[in-house]
Amino acid sequence: MQSWIPLVPDSASTFSWQVDALYFYLSGVTLFFALLISAVLIFFVIRYRRRTPYEIPRPVAGSHKLETVWTIIPFVIAMTMFGWGARVYFTQYKTPADAIEVYVVGKQWMWKLQHATGQREINQLHVPVGRKVKLIMTSEDVIHDFFVPAFRTKADVVPGKYTTLWFEATKPGTYHLFCAEYCGMNHSGMIGSVIVMEPREFDNWLSGNTSNVTPAAAGEQLFQTLGCASCHGTKGEGGRGPALAGAFGKETEIQNVGKVVVNEAYVRESIINPQAKLVLGFGPIMPTFQGQISEDQLMQLVAFIKSLSASPAASPTPNQK
Ligand code: CUA
Repeated sequence: MQSWIPLVPDSASTFSWQVDALYFYLSGVTLFFALLISAVLIFFVIRYRRRTPYEIPRPVAGSHKLETVWTIIPFVIAMTMFGWGARVYFTQYKTPADAIEVYVVGKQWMWKLQHATGQREINQLHVPVGRKVKLIMTSEDVIHDFFVPAFRTKADVVPGKYTTLWFEATKPGTYHLFCAEYCGMNHSGMIGSVIVMEPREFDNWLSGNTSNVTPAAAGEQLFQTLGCASCHGTKGEGGRGPALAGAFGKETEIQNVGKVVVNEAYVRESIINPQAKLVLGFGPIMPTFQGQISEDQLMQLVAFIKSLSASPAASPTPNQK
């Protein structure tokens, strides 16, 4: 999804066009004066150049009329920027009262979100289209910044206090979520997506998936929503974290321990207490999921990781996707 101007991100909130209009106005004024001043500069350099080595310029007398004109015109232009900017600012940061609320906690290096109805998400935010959504945000460690370019809005997420942000998405789709405040080593990896759904689809999502899915398929879903994929790869191919595809049932080299077999117990331990047995060559960057997922969900994750190593025909829990 890309707009027709390559430098402008997708536009998907009620006030994104207002931000764009202001931005183009600022750019236009800047461009106009840059060209005007350059042209006049070049013209004067040529027109009033010194023609003989002993030439003395005529004395210059002040002009109140000229002074007044070039004071008032820039003042009026600056005030239009101030007035317009203030209006857009208040639209963006005055939170409406009738918004649905989502709690957001930033930490190095992930976004944890919880809906008022209890659903938790990591690095993903599902919202309905055409509804006002208010985010109530704080941080567990350092300052982060919640930024959704397509909505043209962002706000700092600060430890020890709550900050808020609101938006109303105007079209369904998946939009980038960035951390826009440098927050340490994996700042650039502190990303996610905002998924805007039709209201009915959103209600279904919110009321939980009650259809019949295998544990492995449910586990795959969890693998995405919990943010595992951001380090272990979408299909478990590995990245900042060890590869999971093909790992189950085999031996792996553990730091300061030696070889261990990747079995259910090891996978479970690595989710609850990731620092206990680190795979050789990887740093202790994985956060614990203790208290964030139930035993059921743990089993689903184990089932998914298991399915990544099974041959399709022999798989006891075939992947539905
Ligand atoms: Cu969090 Cu940058």
